[in-house]
Amino acid sequence: MYYSGQSLAPYVASPVNVVKRMLEIAEVKPGETVYDLGCGDGRIVIIAAQEFGAKGVGVELNPNLVKESRAKVEELKLNDRVQIIQGDLMKVDLSQADVVTMYLTTGANEKIRPKLETELKSGARVVTHDFTIPKWNILQEIRFRDDYRSHTIYLYNKSKSMKIV
Ligand SMILES: C[S@@+](CC[C@H](N)C(=O)[O-])C[C@H]1O[C@@H](n2cnc3c(N)ncnc32)[C@H](O)[C@@H]1O
Repeated sequence: MYYSGQSLAPYVASPVNVVKRMLEIAEVKPGETVYDLGCGDGRIVIIAAQEFGAKGVGVELNPNLVKESRAKVEELKLNDRVQIIQGDLMKVDLSQADVVTMYLTTGANEKIRPKLETELKSGARVVTHDFTIPKWNILQEIRFRDDYRSHTIYLYNKSKSMKIV
């Protein structure tokens, strides 16, 4: 199937305990807006809404995953707080995001970095799973094991992580 936009990473879901740690480390507050770039089945934005009182915007290229995540949002009656955008994350405006989450690749993060630098408001936090954002200062790094493998979560803040060159 043809999807408009380049796939920057395959679908691998973050385990739920990793998702919760990502949202905790970002200190997501009620009413804030969390964007997950490449949202898969929508779990990050759904948990952000259900457990942190946030608004969620998930962006996903794969129409099957969009369908699955929208069905879950509908089933949980979160339509007023969670939106799933079908399309290329590179084309979505991030200016309303308080928190951005990404579980992609280091190469993808490098490609997205200029977009974060241009569009994010100052003080917006960015949390990544397993892959760093090249040239940005890591503010916090958490490593832990689940039953299968170890995971690393990286916290960034637009105002504090952009390196002055
Ligand atoms: C590793 S999965 C992460 C899923 C979810 N964020 C999580 O942590 O559970 C990466 C997702 O990004 C999506 N993706 C890759 N390139 C994309 C693009 N250019 N625009 C939107 N989504 C994209 C893939 O289809 C896949 O679902």
